[in-house]
Amino acid sequence: MGYKITAKENLSVIDFFMEVEAPHVARSWKPGQFIVLIVDEKGERVPMSVYYADKDTGRVGMFIRRHGVTTFKLWYEKQVGDELLSVAGPLGKPIEVKHYGNVVFAADAVCAQAECYATLKAMKEAGNYTIAIHSFETKDHVYPEKFLSKPVADEFYITTEDGSVGRKGHYLDVLKELIEQDKVDIVFAGGKLGSLKKLAELTRPYGIPTITTVRQIMVDGTGMCGSCRILYDGEVKFACRDGPMFDAHKVDWDDVIRRDSRFAEQQALARERYLAKLREKGVI
Ligand SMILES: Cc1cc2nc3c(=O)[nH]c(=O)nc-3n(C[C@H](O)[C@H](O)[C@H](O)COP(=O)(O)OP(=O)(O)OC[C@H]3O[C@@H](n4cnc5c(N)ncnc54)[C@H](O)[C@@H]3O)c2cc1C
Ligand code: FES
Repeated sequence: MGYKITAKENLSVIDFFMEVEAPHVARSWKPGQFIVLIVDEKGERVPMSVYYADKDTGRVGMFIRRHGVTTFKLWYEKQVGDELLSVAGPLGKPIEVKHYGNVVFAADAVCAQAECYATLKAMKEAGNYTIAIHSFETKDHVYPEKFLSKPVADEFYITTEDGSVGRKGHYLDVLKELIEQDKVDIVFAGGKLGSLKKLAELTRPYGIPTITTVRQIMVDGTGMCGSCRILYDGEVKFACRDGPMFDAHKVDWDDVIRRDSRFAEQQALARERYLAKLREKGVI
């Protein structure tokens, strides 16, 4: 039996929302954990962050970037009512949800936009003052408001690099101001690895705890293959099993960034071949 797609909606020129029926995930998922999808018999295993997991309906929401073969397949070939071959999870370690005080979530890429809502919802329920910062490149990338974290944020910011929506700049600019106003007790973040490296350097001198998703290329997602290994506090850890969220001050970010792009060439080739096929068929 497969996993039925129950909703799908475009979010921007690059990202879309999808909801699937996966009661086993919805029952036990906690913020910080992720899932792994397989589209069909020939499909790769793709890790995805969770936007929400509803115990009552058994449905799980996620945000997906049209990035390579698998995610293009999800967008062009799978519609509401169709099924996915597999939805595995929840995988990884949950974050600690408790009272910290002022909790920020900073997001500048698709996975983090989902994690922002999921994390702040739990943190607000735990009695924290929550601050969401969603960063996008430009207005064409900004999601409809109903998909942003406003309902779970006491304070809410959008930035775009060109200032076409919200403040001009990046979450790092907003966060710097909030830190200078002494408004930040802990930062959670995810998204672009280069930004997370800068974030770690921003918060380190202030001693502000900073917990971030460390995205690495995953294969099995359970600690068996070694693909997602990272250097953490001088030790080898697996992002899928020991994370994916880690203390950003202890992560060797240069190593993480180098390893993340190791199959970029092969993925680009596969993507171009797939898109050429879609063009031939007149799909795009
Ligand atoms: C913990 C975690 C959470 C993520 N959450 C999201 C999310 O919410 N939304 C989203 O769009 N993307 C997310 N990603 C990235 C996403 O998994 C990759 O972009 C996706 O696997 C690549 O899809 P594709 O269409 O390019 O696949 P393909 O080119 O078909 O390649 C798929 C294969 O490559 C691996 N892979 C390729 N790139 C990555 C990558 N950057 N990270 C991890 N594995 C990769 C996959 O495991 C899979 O085996 C997440 C990654 C991780 C590790
Ligand atoms: S994905 Fe294989 S060890 Fe993490």
